[in-house]
Amino acid sequence: MSTATARACANIALVKYWGKRDAARNLPAAGSLSLTLGALVTETTVAFDPALASDELNLDGASARPADVSRTSAFLDLVRAEASITTRARVTSTNDFPTASGLASSASGYAALAVAATTAAGITMSPRALSMLARRGSGSAARSIFGGFVRMHAGQAVDGSDAFAEPIVSRLADRVRMVIAIVGGGAPKAHGSRDAMDHTAATSPFYRAWVELVPHDLAAADGALAAADLATLGTIAEANSLAMHASAIAARPAIWYWQPTTLALLAEVRALRQRGAAAWATMDAGPHVKVLTSIDEAEAVAAALRTVPGTTSVTISGPGGPATVTT
Ligand code: PMV
Repeated sequence: MSTATARACANIALVKYWGKRDAARNLPAAGSLSLTLGALVTETTVAFDPALASDELNLDGASARPADVSRTSAFLDLVRAEASITTRARVTSTNDFPTASGLASSASGYAALAVAATTAAGITMSPRALSMLARRGSGSAARSIFGGFVRMHAGQAVDGSDAFAEPIVSRLADRVRMVIAIVGGGAPKAHGSRDAMDHTAATSPFYRAWVELVPHDLAAADGALAAADLATLGTIAEANSLAMHASAIAARPAIWYWQPTTLALLAEVRALRQRGAAAWATMDAGPHVKVLTSIDEAEAVAAALRTVPGTTSVTISGPGGPATVTT
């Protein structure tokens, strides 16, 4: 039996991934940009065991649902093919934050699984190859292989060989914080992002406009990172998140993730900015609000968000590091 354990941090996109150019290979329709978060960590152990008849998955201390087991099994098939083995595996994964509620647990989950499974299978991959492998599990997982600010490339190749993530060095990494306001107690989300983005692409009249917008936001965000300009980066991130949600809300039937508390938090972020604070909101496939801010203002922003009725909890995170093998 060969076993390995890996840790990976979740990431929150500042320019979102929402839509695919190839569903089978899980290739994104456009690039994306994210910040890996040190406070949201998944730890995963993979044990290949010849005694097993099928793959097993334990998620946060309980046996996983059949749909999650088969998705994990399909991912392990990619690793088995690469390693030329057929052995089944026991996978044990724990998140130190709510699972599948729009807090990017699939990003840290598949990044940790990619690193643990390849190590346990005895194969060595470059970070870029690991990022392409993690992408097959979840598009955002490609970014969680790396720490700090990370850029995902959409690529153009039919086989996806140019659709990988890579880290972006910016002086801003030393100065930023993400304040995470949990809404609704971290309950599981109503629409998984995979189905929701496909539904948006198939039915939203705004989807094309969204895909055309992303390269412009990415170019502007790259410029802001190079100039270490937090205000420009934050302004792009908030607008880009709202555009992503606008495309989903216009799908038929509509997909919206927000709750009344989500909107109250957005209003609080706007009020903070009007008082001169550095604070810009971004939302994903869930009701939570994540606020990009500076290291100096994070405590004040967190205190303001805690006053918003309906907010379950508020956490401050700094940038996290790359996915790593722990044992
Ligand atoms: O990686 P997925 O398939 O869970 O999709 C992630 C979608 C968003 O979180 C909404 C945006 C993003 O870029 O992370």
